[in-house]
Amino acid sequence: NEIYLQGLAGTTPAFTTDLTALEEAAKAVLTPEAFGYVAGSAGAGATARANREAFDRWKIVPRMLTDATDRDLTTTLFDAEIPAPVLLAPVGVQSIVHPDAELATARAAAGLGLPMILSTASSRTIEQVAEASGDGPRWFQLYWPNDPDVCASILDRARKAGFTALVVTLDTWTLAWRPRDLDRSYLPFIRNEGTAIAMSDPAFRARLQKTPEEDQPMALLQWIGMFTGTDHSWSQLAVLRELWDGPILLKGIQHADDARRAADAGMNGVVVSNHGGRQVDGALGALEALPGIAQAVGDRLEVLFDSGVRNGSDLLKALALGAKAVLLGRPYVYGLGLGGEDGVRHVLRSLLAEFDLTLGLAGHRTPGELTPEVLVRG
Ligand code: FNR
Repeated sequence: NEIYLQGLAGTTPAFTTDLTALEEAAKAVLTPEAFGYVAGSAGAGATARANREAFDRWKIVPRMLTDATDRDLTTTLFDAEIPAPVLLAPVGVQSIVHPDAELATARAAAGLGLPMILSTASSRTIEQVAEASGDGPRWFQLYWPNDPDVCASILDRARKAGFTALVVTLDTWTLAWRPRDLDRSYLPFIRNEGTAIAMSDPAFRARLQKTPEEDQPMALLQWIGMFTGTDHSWSQLAVLRELWDGPILLKGIQHADDARRAADAGMNGVVVSNHGGRQVDGALGALEALPGIAQAVGDRLEVLFDSGVRNGSDLLKALALGAKAVLLGRPYVYGLGLGGEDGVRHVLRSLLAEFDLTLGLAGHRTPGELTPEVLVRG
């Protein structure tokens, strides 16, 4: 309606409403380095392609005369209501695409009441993002450091700054072979853009011989060393359970047995995800893993999903196959690159509007009505 009214006034939207065209639009405005970092994936890109192919294999079967005019997208996660089943996926180093970085994302998410998941590799500190987010819902994503004091310190800061749920990413205990970043020698990282949380952390700083201001390369190397070669195990999740009294979700789960282990370890949710195809090249499309995992643990855990969601119909398919909500990844980052806070807001609102229309036109009123029966494979 808003866009129709704009049309009557002789104007058109500032950015495309075709969410699948965002990558193309972003490519035109971002530096090759920034675009390569966001769009890139592991190896030959087979997993990223498989993520899309998995969506294309499922088709929606619309139903008629179901009285779907009055729709309600409200979703409850861990006793909190959110206006729609959408969260902003943790994405590090957002300063590479826009100077307002995570602060713009936090403002756009908060304005719509959608949870932002802040990355450990953020280019702004936990406290700065919390301030920008105001009363907005916010979760924290942990890359799990092998130094227990640093881990405790970061979680303590997140809790004090109002982050309610913890998302522990398990699939990135070392960075995969990512040609587009390797070809540019990981410049954004070397410029220290994704280390705001580390460099502002008292426990981490206490580990350094010289301050990051005195010896930045050494600080960076030491930070990277906290994540590579970690020997975390399922039993050590008990440590995180001790440190964090809110909900904990494990991100990067792709096998039903791992989801069961998450439940056995006292976790509260999983994010079925292959990191947008950025870790294991040649892996299965994330959506292929979703139905089995939802079936295995859907009654014990909140099952969330990401990797490959591009528009409203993708969102519908993921919910129908068992996700309670989805994390949006690259599309909002392209929005950030195209227009800062306004760009992120535009992408999120377009996604919600397209989902709402698709849901209704397919004959359904609420996300909760979506079951595998609303789809066919073919
Ligand atoms: C990511 N992702 C990610 N995940 C995470 O747990 N911590 C992080 O810091 C990052 N950083 C990051 C940077 C960039 C540029 C991208 C594209 C992705 C993964 C992210 O949370 C999510 O799993 C994927 O983006 C989902 O795939 P699509 O939808 O973007 O294809």
